[in-house]
Amino acid sequence: MLSVGSASGSSCMTVLLQVRDLTVTYRSRNRGTLTAVAGVSLDIHEATTLALIGESGSGKSSVARAICGLTMVESGAIKIDECDLPREIDPASAAGQHGIQIVFQDASSSLDPRWPIWKSVSEPRRARSRSSSAEHRRAAVSLLNRVGLPASFADRRPHQLSGGQRQRVTIARALAADPRIVILDEAVSALDVSVRNEILALLDELKRERRLTYLFISHDMGAVAQIAGDVAVLYLGKVVEAGRAETVIRHPLHPYTRALIAAVPSIHPERRRCATQAIGEPDDPANPPSGCRFHRRCPYVIDRCRSDEPARREYDFRDIACHRAEDIKKLTANA
Ligand SMILES: Nc1ncnc2c1ncn2[C@@H]1O[C@H](COP(=O)(O)OP(=O)(O)OP(=O)(O)O)[C@@H](O)[C@H]1O
Ligand code: SF4
Ligand SMILES: [Mg+2]
Repeated sequence: MLSVGSASGSSCMTVLLQVRDLTVTYRSRNRGTLTAVAGVSLDIHEATTLALIGESGSGKSSVARAICGLTMVESGAIKIDECDLPREIDPASAAGQHGIQIVFQDASSSLDPRWPIWKSVSEPRRARSRSSSAEHRRAAVSLLNRVGLPASFADRRPHQLSGGQRQRVTIARALAADPRIVILDEAVSALDVSVRNEILALLDELKRERRLTYLFISHDMGAVAQIAGDVAVLYLGKVVEAGRAETVIRHPLHPYTRALIAAVPSIHPERRRCATQAIGEPDDPANPPSGCRFHRRCPYVIDRCRSDEPARREYDFRDIACHRAEDIKKLTANA
């Protein structure tokens, strides 16, 4: 496997978090056993942003929640500082101790509606330090200032804030834990474009200032193109393409990535005309197709795709799982 982040010669970068063959399975009465994440491997390099993209239900949040210890892992490893998080007695606490924080789309879920903002922001710090309440408040105000909110916000309640302001508060709260890796699970998806751009700019500043590492999960390819250094594309719980963002987004090769990118005219207006769209609705992860999971929707399908699962391999400066990568490269060379 090509280490995502090393494709453009950055192989000397330190891998901070390593995910290997991660499998996450859910069991429910109506859908039976569902493998949401089916053997995902990723390397996340220090002080970089890896974007995880894919349609709804492709398993992005399940990967994120497994890394944070919020979902049971069926098999595989999630390594940070020589520690394999799923093997710890309390994976969620271990993830926090190793500096992993998560910010969700819905800021309200991490802010107690009854608490003043400063108290929510200081909660991770209060859990670790016995400072006085006044000191915790001072530290929270300083973090609020850092994310662009004045001190007067400290005593407000979450419902008195706009969506963008609440998301700034959850970022301040994540910073209070002094993180090394911040997982942003659709963290900017509910915001309108101008607020989204402000938050993306803030995230970029914080990353450089504190050498943060991001796992950025989003449906929003515009935001991904803006923030990500590396990209991994998930389809039905498997990585189908991964590499440097400029390679995967500017020159997508896997038919699924091509369809995802083609749906965003702002990224390549020219590619929208020529890319062949994927056909039909996504398959059900509870009942994935044989062979290549994408075969029922792929415009390049051949018989082999229906029976043989393509292995993830290095080709054309990226990782790709497609039997026909070479043919597709030739067929689309002038597209
Ligand atoms: N707790 C759960 N119990 C049962 N099935 C689940 C659970 N959580 C997720 N799933 C299923 O696992 C699959 C992957 O879900 P996941 O939320 O990881 O996808 P996602 O890529 O984050 O989607 P979205 O873009 O909609 O957030 C989906 O089919 C989903 O219905
Ligand atoms: S392996 Fe076959 S079905 Fe799958 S993406 Fe490649 S060409 Fe399409
Ligand atoms: Mg999700």
